[in-house]
Amino acid sequence: MPAFSATSPGKIILFGEHAVVYGEPAIAIPVFSSQANAIVSAHIQGKPGEIWIEAPDISLSAPIDQLKINHPLRAAIQVVIGDKELNQVPSCNIQITSEIPPSSGLGSSAAISISLIRAFSAFLGKRLSDEEVSNFAYEVEKIHHGTPSGIDNTVISHQKPVYYRKGNPIEFLEIGKEFSVLIAYSGKPGKTKEAVEGVRERWQEEPDQYNQLFSRIGEITETAKRIIETGNPDNLGELMNENHGLLQELGVSSPKLDELIQVARDAGALGAKLSGGGLGGHIIALVKSDAADVSKELVKKGAISTLLTPVSNQDFYR
Ligand code: MEV
Repeated sequence: MPAFSATSPGKIILFGEHAVVYGEPAIAIPVFSSQANAIVSAHIQGKPGEIWIEAPDISLSAPIDQLKINHPLRAAIQVVIGDKELNQVPSCNIQITSEIPPSSGLGSSAAISISLIRAFSAFLGKRLSDEEVSNFAYEVEKIHHGTPSGIDNTVISHQKPVYYRKGNPIEFLEIGKEFSVLIAYSGKPGKTKEAVEGVRERWQEEPDQYNQLFSRIGEITETAKRIIETGNPDNLGELMNENHGLLQELGVSSPKLDELIQVARDAGALGAKLSGGGLGGHIIALVKSDAADVSKELVKKGAISTLLTPVSNQDFYR
């Protein structure tokens, strides 16, 4: 009996996080050097509905029906089987692994859900479009993050750079000229749910001020889109710096993120910002031939790891 395997990349948001929750656009890219995988194999002797799930990264090894009904891994299985009961599903073993650091802004939760949704639907003989996979994963993202914009599941299921605005058709970005972004982990987990909730509370208290911040982030994202498409990526640095200043005003940065961003700029990066939910997690820096120097300085000043990622039109898995 064959095993069904699916791999999904991580992601970073280049521009527009948080504002995207309020209807502004954002730009995100897949990160293929850090990925999640799910393998589903039939358990010939098992009874229908006996699904065993193993996720060694979180020390989980259990039958699926012993997980809480809203456990994200169980929820990902349930969205695929739809209205059917678990006991109508052939017995199988599922193995989940991920290199993407959890709670870090790199889309670990969406990448795991999407790998599981793809591998499990293939096991059931269902062919899902990228759009369907993304929609299913969005349901699971709600369990993780409360009120997600949908950008993580969109970029990870389509595995292409996207310009995303909630409720609008997805636009895939044509990269006019390839460029590189250095991703550095602050070592402190990000807190996307908390960050998103905090912004919402402050927005409710001061809607005018926050709406202005969101709309300025939206303008930056629009400008960045034009620059990326016309192939002048060096000009993105200033925009990243301005975007980060606005994220600070939204209250989602942290002293550690600010420090690493300053280190990256001082070491020669053309610009830097936090990426994702913030309050920890990753920063990104626009680098050229100085990537190794910037990386060295970041690690010296406490970054746990760095990852150089190309931003290009290349399809890696297809
Ligand atoms: C999380 O990767 C990005 C946020 O904008 C939340 C979201 O879009 O759902 C902070």
